Amino acid sequence: MKFFIDTASLAQIKEAQDLGVLDGVTTNPSLMAKEGISGEERVLQHYVDICNIVDGDVSAEVISVDFAGMVKEGEKLAALHKNITVKVPMTRDGVKAIKYFSGKGIKTNCTLVFSPGQALLAAKAGATYVSPFIGRLDDVSTDGVQLIESIRTIYDNYGYATQILAASVRHPMHIIQCAEVGADVATCPLSAIVALFDHPLTTIGLEKFLADHKKAQQATAKA
Ligand code: G3P
Repeated sequence: MKFFIDTASLAQIKEAQDLGVLDGVTTNPSLMAKEGISGEERVLQHYVDICNIVDGDVSAEVISVDFAGMVKEGEKLAALHKNITVKVPMTRDGVKAIKYFSGKGIKTNCTLVFSPGQALLAAKAGATYVSPFIGRLDDVSTDGVQLIESIRTIYDNYGYATQILAASVRHPMHIIQCAEVGADVATCPLSAIVALFDHPLTTIGLEKFLADHKKAQQATAKA
């Protein structure tokens, strides 16, 4: 399963990249705003900066809601770097735009997906990625991971190549559950990725190994 980081923070992207397990980045307008990135030129430069840190797909979301606007914006974004994936919302115009981009060989990520039917439409339009928001479903008492499982079944039934990119991942158990049900990608906050590293028995075990090694060395030095 690929690990993407879900942020527009260059510092966090660099930190995740340094861990050696990062495969890509997803952003959205809220995450860009959180970093104070606004104005067309600054936004475009920020995507280029992200692409220069990570060798993997970087989702850049369109702001337009109409087909013509999405196409114009998406083509501009895609021209920035070979790794840019145009992120398009799951709407009628969005699906039409995905179909258009797919025909042009431009990678797409269909975002704001909350149902198996929406995921089926995204695959039929030729989306590179589909982004079911599992955390936001959990927030309304609906099983987000169950949606990933359902989409996996549908895509496998028909051999759709669209990759399932689990989004709105909130914690390490979401990552594990997504891996168990066959998500292709999980896009996560840095905190959720980092949390996978730690286990108290690993810490205790390493301390014991190092202490035993030190004792043996001291015994050898004395002999
Ligand atoms: O990838 C979509 C993600 O950014 C949404 O996450 O935590 O705002 O639901 P969240």
